[in-house]
Amino acid sequence: METHVHDVLVIGGGGAGLRAAIAVAETDPALRVAMVSKVYPMRSHTVSAEGGAAAVIKPDDSLDAHAYDTISGGEWLCDQDAVELFVREAPEEMLRLEHWGCPWNREPDGHVAVRAFGGMKIRRTWFAADKTGFHLLHALFQTSLKYASIARYDEWFVTRLLVGEGRCLGVVALELASGEMHALLAKAVILATGGGGRVFPFTTNANIKTGDGMALAYRAGVPLKDMEFVQYHPTGLPFTGILITEAARSEGGWLLNKDGYRYLQDYDLGRPEPTPVLRAMELGPRDRLSQAFVKEMEKGRTIETAHGHVVHLDVRHLGEPVIEAKIPFVRELCLTYEHLDPVHELIPVRPVVHYMMGGVHTDLTGATPLPGLYAAGETACVSINGANRLGSNSLTEILVFGARAGRAAAAYAARAPAPTGPTRAQALDEERRVLSKVRGDGGGGERVATIRTAMQRALEAGAGIYRDEVGLRRAAEGIEGLKARAQGVTLDDRSHTFNTEVVAFLELENMLDVAEAIVHAALVRRESRGAHQRTDFPARDDNRFLAHSLAYRSPNGPPRVDLLPVTITRWPPGERVYGR
Ligand code: FUM
Repeated sequence: METHVHDVLVIGGGGAGLRAAIAVAETDPALRVAMVSKVYPMRSHTVSAEGGAAAVIKPDDSLDAHAYDTISGGEWLCDQDAVELFVREAPEEMLRLEHWGCPWNREPDGHVAVRAFGGMKIRRTWFAADKTGFHLLHALFQTSLKYASIARYDEWFVTRLLVGEGRCLGVVALELASGEMHALLAKAVILATGGGGRVFPFTTNANIKTGDGMALAYRAGVPLKDMEFVQYHPTGLPFTGILITEAARSEGGWLLNKDGYRYLQDYDLGRPEPTPVLRAMELGPRDRLSQAFVKEMEKGRTIETAHGHVVHLDVRHLGEPVIEAKIPFVRELCLTYEHLDPVHELIPVRPVVHYMMGGVHTDLTGATPLPGLYAAGETACVSINGANRLGSNSLTEILVFGARAGRAAAAYAARAPAPTGPTRAQALDEERRVLSKVRGDGGGGERVATIRTAMQRALEAGAGIYRDEVGLRRAAEGIEGLKARAQGVTLDDRSHTFNTEVVAFLELENMLDVAEAIVHAALVRRESRGAHQRTDFPARDDNRFLAHSLAYRSPNGPPRVDLLPVTITRWPPGERVYGR
């Protein structure tokens, strides 16, 4: 087994990973950085982000207003020290990105253009039409290329963290092209592998978002924080789950029920008439809009289709020039995947899983409780997103906290001793485990796809938009059973070259760990807050649960879930009010 030695490893080649790698290279050009990504960086999920990235830039806005929208939107579960530094560092990161080539949309007078986004009381979302993620990722990727100190291992899948001497010492990875396992040693490792929306059946998330970084950390004893908070985006396409960006509603799109009625006016989200302040309605927060969809469905006012119930998104009144200028990708997606033209037709949409507020527990620098291990982006929980992320904060988050994690990991690597310790034995163990799966040793005839589908159904049924004790217990038992069955998976593909079946198996193991953390954290949180709505505990309970959940993996049973108080600085818990 070959061993490669670097100073800092960045796992994941999306926005957070690239920003982190650049920060390491900028902080200390002598450090040898390597980025290990299971896909070519430009294929990372960041590329599919559409609507924009939030940061204060306009004179009618303020850092406090951005902080308050974030904290109240997150139903006071955000750590306010994290939010305060996030909104402070956001504008600089966004301008830096422009200097690196990101073509932000402009007002006619040349100033940066901003649009409104869900849950915001002031417009502050920078955008590049509705292909913001594509442009942002391009700008980061091309910038990363100018640093000779950044090496890349594209299409290498990390399967285990190496831990010894009380710290993280590197990773083991499968090189997909050759099927060989490698040890990569480093003084610091940054996890930036994105979220794990694929644990649910309908999601905007790409197939690659299988919670890999979360599972790696969890198995190494690092807690996962606030995993019960899973954000549904109100407008995904039925069947594919492809995102129809909130920008469509920001530009003036309406949500209509089966009677053509703008039903959100019935859900305490404001009135349809124009008002001097930003109307909520279609631009209410994502948790409330997704919950309103369920209520509307229960009233029999949604439309039944082969792929579940839907409502309609109507952008016809915007007209073709606006649609082409501001949301051309929405039109492209509708034409390609629904065979309809939104210039003339209604778009069927439903809530689909979009984002995980939870993730690997970190401090404000991205450091996890395991020395030498850092995390940033959706993989991490810093936590600025609380119980429900404010729309368009996540692209900014990958910049601000990717950079912070990179700088902190660089400082740590500069003073840490070179990795030694028991890494060789761990790496060989992992090689044996993965390659024996490819050889078909010990399989019991179980299929990856069968278990994956059962896991997704269990989560949707038990841990969807509304939850209760009975459903969550059923989901927890289901996941436990599936974890046991997964050990009996047999692979058909014995090839060593791009064996996608073994990758699917390894991803399934990761997703089952993530699913376990979600349901057990949700069981512990006996209240309703943001995206976690318990029908058996419908009220928010600040006395008991103004606290983060921390899920610790147990080798032979359910995880232990502890509570950690939320950091409050200047905004005491209050009522979330929209549209009044
Ligand atoms: O609707 C959207 O474009 C999603 C943006 C986000 O999740 O921040």
